[in-house]
Amino acid sequence: MGGMTESTATPGTPDATPAAPETSPRDQTLADRGSNRSQRPSSEAFRRFIAERWADRPAGTPAPLPAAPYAAARRARISALFPGERLVLPAGPLKTRSNDTDYRFRPHSAFAHLTGLGTDQEPDAVLVLHPTDDGGHEAVLYFRPLAGRDTEEFFADARYGEFWVGARPTLDDLAALTGVRTAALEELADALAKDAGEGGVRIRVVPGADDAVAAQVDEARGGTATADELAEADAALAEALSELRLTKDEYEVEQMRAAVAATIAGFERIVRNLPRAVEHRRGERVIESSFDGHAREEGNAVGYETIAASGDHATTLHWTRNDGEVRPGDLVLVDAGVEVDSLYTADVTRTLPVDGTFTDVQRRIYQAVLDAADAAFAVAKPGSRFRDLHAAAMEVIAARLAEWGLLPGTAEESLDPEGQYHRRWMVHGTSHHLGLDVHDCAQARRELYLDGVLEPGMVFTIEPGLYFKSDDLVVPEEYRGIGVRIEDDVLITEDGHENLSAALPRRPEDVEAWMARLLGR
Ligand code: GLY
Ligand code: MN
Ligand code: MN
Repeated sequence: MGGMTESTATPGTPDATPAAPETSPRDQTLADRGSNRSQRPSSEAFRRFIAERWADRPAGTPAPLPAAPYAAARRARISALFPGERLVLPAGPLKTRSNDTDYRFRPHSAFAHLTGLGTDQEPDAVLVLHPTDDGGHEAVLYFRPLAGRDTEEFFADARYGEFWVGARPTLDDLAALTGVRTAALEELADALAKDAGEGGVRIRVVPGADDAVAAQVDEARGGTATADELAEADAALAEALSELRLTKDEYEVEQMRAAVAATIAGFERIVRNLPRAVEHRRGERVIESSFDGHAREEGNAVGYETIAASGDHATTLHWTRNDGEVRPGDLVLVDAGVEVDSLYTADVTRTLPVDGTFTDVQRRIYQAVLDAADAAFAVAKPGSRFRDLHAAAMEVIAARLAEWGLLPGTAEESLDPEGQYHRRWMVHGTSHHLGLDVHDCAQARRELYLDGVLEPGMVFTIEPGLYFKSDDLVVPEEYRGIGVRIEDDVLITEDGHENLSAALPRRPEDVEAWMARLLGR
C-alpha cells in the first residue's frame, strides 16, 4: 500500500498542502506524519491532468437485489412498531486495524437486514425511516456516493477514493439496488434534526453501531430526556430489530441453505488436507486456512473465527489460536461457518478422528454427545419451547455421566437446578439462533428467546458437547484430553424440523466412511 499518494488522518478532506521533505517533525501534527513516507502531487497542472480523459462510466443502473422486496417487508414491520418516530440504522464506520489500515468492512446486521445490502456495503451509510403523515415511514439511505474525477477524493483518499478502493456506487446505483430513496451523507444532519427537539419527532438510533451518527442523533434530539431515558429508547429499537429476525423469511432460509452448503464443502476440503495438517508443525493452522480460504473463495468470509482444536485443545471452547499440532490417534474438533455474500452464516461443528477411525473410548464419548443432540432434535418442532432443546440434551448427558460414575450423585440430582454437576463437562448452552449473526437475535427478550415457543422459520443450532480436560482428576485417565462437540443448523418447519446440515455425516461410522472416501482409502 505504499503508493504515490495517501490520505491524511481526516479522510475525505485531504490536506491540500503536502508535507515538504524538509519540514521538521516538530512542525507537524502526529496525525500528519503518516504522510512523511511519500509526496502527494498537488500542482494545479497535475490536478487538471488527472481529472481529464476518462471514458464515460457504464450507462444504466444495477438490477434490484433479490433481497430488496424482503427488506421492504421487514421495514414495514418495524415501521408499524414505531409510528411517528424517526428510526436511525447506521451501517457503521470503517474500523481501524492498526495505524492507517482498516479491517475489511462488514455492515451492521440490522442495517443489512433492513436494506438487503451485504458484502462490504456501505461504510458510513445510514438508513433512516422518516415518519410520514399517514402514520408510516419513508426510508432514505444516506451514504457517501462516488466522487467525481475532478475531486481530490478521486485519487488522494486512501479510505474512500476510486484510485484506492475502487469505484463506489452512485446515488442512483444504490437506489436501484435497494429500492430505497438515496441521499448524500452531507444531508443527514439536517434530515435528522427536521422537526426534532423538545416536543418534536422522537428519534431512536441503533446503539453501538456508529458513535459519530449517535452523536449527531443526540444533537438533533436536544430536549430534556436523560441519558438513561434515551438509552432505554434506543435499546427498545435494538430489541425490536433483533426480535424481527427470530423467524426467517423465504429469502433468508435460501441464504442459510447456501451458507450451510458452502460450509459442508469447506469441511470436505479440511478432510482432504488432513494429511498435510498432520505433517505440519502447526497442523491446526492448516485446517483453519483450508476452511477460511474456502470461505473467502465461495462466500464473503467466515462467519466467526474458525476453531480448529486438536487433542486437549478441543476442551478449550473458543480455541481460535489454532497453533497446535494435529496428531494421529487424537480427535480434532472443527467449528466453522461460511458467511455468504448476503452475510448469513452457518455454524457447524464436527469432531473428527485425525487418522480416520475412532478409538473405543472416543466413540463412547462421541456417541453420548450424538445421543444428546438427537434428543434435542426430537423436541425441535413448533410448540416446543426453546429451552426444551437444552433440557432434552442435558438429560442424556447427565445420564451418561452417571453411568460412567463421574457424577457425585444420580443423574436426577444433577439435573436439579441445585446440582447441575454434569455442566462441569459442558459449560455452554445447547442452542442459539443463527442468521446474519452467528449468535443471532441476541437482543431479543428472554420470553421470546429462551422461554419462547418454537415457530416455523426459526433457525438455530443444536450443539451439545463433552469436554474432558487433560488435568481433570475427576475423570478416568483414558477420558482426559478428549473434547467432542457436534453442531448442526436446524430449521423449524410447519410439522417439525429440517436439519440443514444433515448432508455432513454425524454418526461415527458415517464420519469414518466419509473420511475414507475423501482420503481415497
Ligand atoms: N461457533 C460459535 C458457536 O458455536 O456458538
Ligand atoms: Mn454455535
Ligand atoms: Mn459453532
